[in-house]
Amino acid sequence: DAEVLKHLRSGLTDLQGVPMTLSVTHRWDDIKNFSAHPDDLLIATYPKSGTTWMVEIVDSIRNEGISQEMRSIPSLMRAPFLEMNPPAPFPSGLDILKTMPAPRMVKTHLPFQLVPQSFWDNNCKAIYIARNAKDVLISYYYFHKMNTGMPEPGTWHEFFDNFLSGKVSWGSWFDHVTGWWDAREGLRIHYVFYEDLKQDPVKEIKKVALFLGKTLNKELLDTILEHTSFNKMKDNPMTNFSTVPPFVFKHDISPFMRKGTVGDWKLHLTVAENERFDEEYQRRMAATSLTFRTEL
Ligand code: A3P
Repeated sequence: DAEVLKHLRSGLTDLQGVPMTLSVTHRWDDIKNFSAHPDDLLIATYPKSGTTWMVEIVDSIRNEGISQEMRSIPSLMRAPFLEMNPPAPFPSGLDILKTMPAPRMVKTHLPFQLVPQSFWDNNCKAIYIARNAKDVLISYYYFHKMNTGMPEPGTWHEFFDNFLSGKVSWGSWFDHVTGWWDAREGLRIHYVFYEDLKQDPVKEIKKVALFLGKTLNKELLDTILEHTSFNKMKDNPMTNFSTVPPFVFKHDISPFMRKGTVGDWKLHLTVAENERFDEEYQRRMAATSLTFRTEL
């Protein structure tokens, strides 16, 4: 385990200008050359933006309810993580995808420019979930502490700086959300905000269903709402990542399903940090039409 852990915690490498864990960079040629099927659905996010939540929503819509597979197979096996490449004996995302029947859900945190071209050549649909940067910062910090597959976060202060300057895995939040935003026209990309999903899940789930070409009756909608609520997902071993070995995910340090709220940053950022954050935010987001809510 010590060898595996050392490998997992290793620092960041440069993947075409994007900071990335060594394991992903190592396997990059295979990941880049992934061959998508036209009916693959890509679920893309910057880390900690509601990926697992959307996977569960999409799976319930596609199955028109909560299937036996959803009750017995962990999220990561139902929506394989494309670029995940852990040391043996754990399977890589590519390994899992290879054996999976269509139609597949494929999870990724890749910035738009690094997504394998075959998704777009095959006109695949993609759902991108974006979450406000302040809550992502807090969630990502706790995730670095609990997940030994991420580099050490350092002190809170160091992590804060690294996040703002984009020196974290999968790179800059600013580049990520704007990259996908700019790319969405002309492609089948449905762009969803975590805050909207939180505020009005009925409306947002219906929009996702429409994008997938499905309609939901009242009963099905209620079932999905209940199954994908934060509290249900927190207690569900198939969605709360408790099936990941405890030396990899340390839920006692911070659970994967941590809070699931909008505005948790207010309980963490000092006034000075918040001001610094806002300054950098305004500088980086000045040119985009993309806007976020940091509270509801
Ligand atoms: P917090 O750390 O703020 O609680 P991802 O799946 O992309 O890694 O994102 C994880 C974040 O989404 C965590 O945020 C987690 O609690 C939150 N989340 C997961 N399921 C959720 C749900 N059903 N409702 C609201 N938030 C959810």
